[in-house]
Amino acid sequence: MSAFVVIGGQWGDEGKGRMVDLLAQDATVVARYSAGDNAGHTIINHLGKFALHLVPAGIFYPEKICLIGNGVVINPAVLLDEIQQLESRGVSTKHLYVSDRAHVLMPYHTLIDELEEDARGDAALETTRRGVGPAFVDKVARTGIRMADFIEPDALRARLEQVLPQKNMLLERMYGSPPLDLEKLYADSVEYACKLKPFVRDISTFVHDALDRGEQVLLEGAQGTLLDLDAGTYPYVTSSTPPPLAAGAAIGVGIGPTQIDRVIGVYKAYMTRVGAGPMPTELANETGDILRRQGPAPEFGATTGRPRRCGWFDAVASRYSVRVNGVTSAALTRLDVLDNFPTIELCTAYELDGERVDSFPATISVLERVKPVFEEVTGWQESTAGVRRFGDLPPNAQAYVKRIEELLGCPIEIVSVGPEREQVIIR
Ligand code: GDP
Ligand code: IMO
Ligand code: MG
Repeated sequence: MSAFVVIGGQWGDEGKGRMVDLLAQDATVVARYSAGDNAGHTIINHLGKFALHLVPAGIFYPEKICLIGNGVVINPAVLLDEIQQLESRGVSTKHLYVSDRAHVLMPYHTLIDELEEDARGDAALETTRRGVGPAFVDKVARTGIRMADFIEPDALRARLEQVLPQKNMLLERMYGSPPLDLEKLYADSVEYACKLKPFVRDISTFVHDALDRGEQVLLEGAQGTLLDLDAGTYPYVTSSTPPPLAAGAAIGVGIGPTQIDRVIGVYKAYMTRVGAGPMPTELANETGDILRRQGPAPEFGATTGRPRRCGWFDAVASRYSVRVNGVTSAALTRLDVLDNFPTIELCTAYELDGERVDSFPATISVLERVKPVFEEVTGWQESTAGVRRFGDLPPNAQAYVKRIEELLGCPIEIVSVGPEREQVIIR
């Protein structure tokens, strides 16, 4: 057996969490491989409704090993709170481990994220303001603090003495903001470190051992392809390194790419985006508002509560993401949200100055100018929420899924028709 990856094929929030909660059944190890608590993965199962930011969505199976990989940046306060909340609701975190190579998201990262966003004014990226971007900047700049050092008081102190003066200079001189006190930051950090230490391991050994035993390892992505530093709508992207792309999964848990044999791309049956940046099929009108509010889980961010921008399915962007991830099969989520529409539009290409565009442009000004070329599909106007077999979907809904499959160029093996674990059709 080998590892398989679940990635977001659009701008995040495609329903990766609910897919991991479902697919974790087949794995013995579930590992998050990138990003930080900017991610918000909603899960609804027999234990209730949960919004996870750092803990992998395999946590609801008490016997599975859940790992937070070296590719994730960890805010200790957020992780400890998430663990405590899970435990208080009867979800065991006994088999949760955190990579000793993961970087720690420090209080100055959150401050800098806020200050940078405020300073950008009208050009704000509309980040989640969780400090994730600045934490990855420090990782790349070699001024980060890794979990292995964070949990050793002497190493932590030495690192803070080196890094904090730089951060304070930035806070004070660039932003006129008060500096952080070394002693307080150190004392708070040591307190968190004591609580986190029992979780910290070389997590790659769990992954290698499971693979050696012939078991399946599920690698859980965060965010989406179009938010990726390389593939996405730069600069309106997130800063994760390793990237949210499938290629980042191997790096983010310490295995080689040859150990991954399947990539499951999660796509919504339409598009959403939260934060700034181009979105060719956006419906900034009443139809967009209907998409946002339709169904049992309206489109408001799990991390920030912000309304998500909504629009019709964009096959240009989604096909591009199938390619850059090497997606082997797709999961189509939130089909039920389209249940009441008499007609649905599908964007099959873009048009720019009278020319047809079939590939996803790199230039932001071009993405802002392209006009979607729509194909009209007749709706089904019938509830799909209770359907569990593909053949039982209304014929127009089947046709919609098959048309998207054709446009993506890869099989759609899973269709979800509601937010609950069981509301799914496996083809
Ligand atoms: P993630 O970040 O990719 O894990 O996605 P989020 O959890 O941020 O956003 C997906 C939202 O859609 C959540 O509120 C889910 O509960 C919900 N959801 C997932 N699948 C379905 C579905 O098939 N139908 C409906 N109506 N909601 C769904
Ligand atoms: P999940 O895992 C949707 C977006 C932010 C912003 C941009 C940069 O739940 O799909 P950041 O805080 O990362 O520096 O913000 O990226 N963003 C997400 N949007 N889902 C996510 O994660 C996101 N993570 C970051 O809204 O536009
Ligand atoms: Mg989300």
